[in-house]
Amino acid sequence: MKVLICIGSSCHVRGSRDVIETLTRLVKEYEKKVDIELSGSFCMGACSKGVSIKIKDRIYHVKPEDAEDFFHEVILKEAETCG
Ligand code: FES
Repeated sequence: MKVLICIGSSCHVRGSRDVIETLTRLVKEYEKKVDIELSGSFCMGACSKGVSIKIKDRIYHVKPEDAEDFFHEVILKEAETCG
């Protein structure tokens, strides 16, 4: 499953680098269980609240401090229902 993380300037200011670091670590920890591919993306035109993350055509906004919860609550669940 692909997870696109925005690295556009607005998301960068909101901490996309920290979000990427956290998610990269977690994806490594879970790599035997789920197949998740992280990649960077340019501005998604949704620079409002947190760092924009796109999964299956849906855009989420994630703050760096919430990245770990987001991984468990959204990414893992989506990856399990990926088929
Ligand atoms: S900079 Fe990330 S959505 Fe615009």
